[in-house]
Amino acid sequence: MNVLVTGGAGYIGSHTCVELLNEGCGVVVIDNLCNSNPKSLDRVRELTGKDLHFYEGDVRDEALLRRIFAENEIDCVIHFAGLKAVGESVAQPWRYYDNNLNSTLVLTKVMEEVGCKKIIFSSSATVYSGDNEMPLRETSKTGNCTNPYGWTKYMTEQILFVMSFSFISRVKPLRSLPSPKSLPNRKFLRSLWFAAKYIMPAKRQTI
Ligand SMILES: NC(=O)c1ccc[n+]([C@@H]2O[C@H](COP(=O)([O-])OP(=O)(O)OC[C@H]3O[C@@H](n4cnc5c(N)ncnc54)[C@H](O)[C@@H]3O)[C@@H](O)[C@H]2O)c1
Repeated sequence: MNVLVTGGAGYIGSHTCVELLNEGCGVVVIDNLCNSNPKSLDRVRELTGKDLHFYEGDVRDEALLRRIFAENEIDCVIHFAGLKAVGESVAQPWRYYDNNLNSTLVLTKVMEEVGCKKIIFSSSATVYSGDNEMPLRETSKTGNCTNPYGWTKYMTEQILFVMSFSFISRVKPLRSLPSPKSLPNRKFLRSLWFAAKYIMPAKRQTI
């Protein structure tokens, strides 16, 4: 199975590439390196002893995405690419809405064109409303987000669910709840792998 990992040079994306390669998947990465370094992908290659295909570029670049899908048989997309700093999103809301929403719109447009129907989206616990009781649960209220970053994640989930009624066969947004550990926790990474492999029923899941 070949997986396109958007934002694959980043923090969670690069760890996910390791898991995918170790499980025998083919991995294709697109990343514009706005918040990462290609050395992380060299480390992925070193750690796994396997190669991956890296395209440096922006997910909003429709022509590049078409090329990637034409040059690789992609079965599934794991969508990490995005800006993710809450405070920065308050200071630069336009940049966040443009980057995080348009990347999803362009990505899904090209996926529809080429018939790629499976996407796992790295959402966020910031989709939950600020007036929920703690701790947050899967069933906690969403929307009424407290910052633009959270709204971009909330809106992206809405966009993907609407598209799941037309062309996307399986959509899986993962809302990572805060972890005390500094590394993306293993359960989260394993769930990404299982999601990629089995693309389970189209419903929300919180890890
Ligand atoms: N780190 C967390 O605790 C956490 C929690 C919940 C959700 N998330 C989400 O998971 C995803 C990955 O998080 P991370 O911590 O690995 O972030 P990160 O910044 O390390 O990785 C994101 C990657 O996306 C790339 N990128 C951003 N916009 C792009 C674009 N338009 N085109 C191509 N590449 C682009 C960046 O260069 C970076 O390499 C993000 O969408 C983030 O919102 C992260």
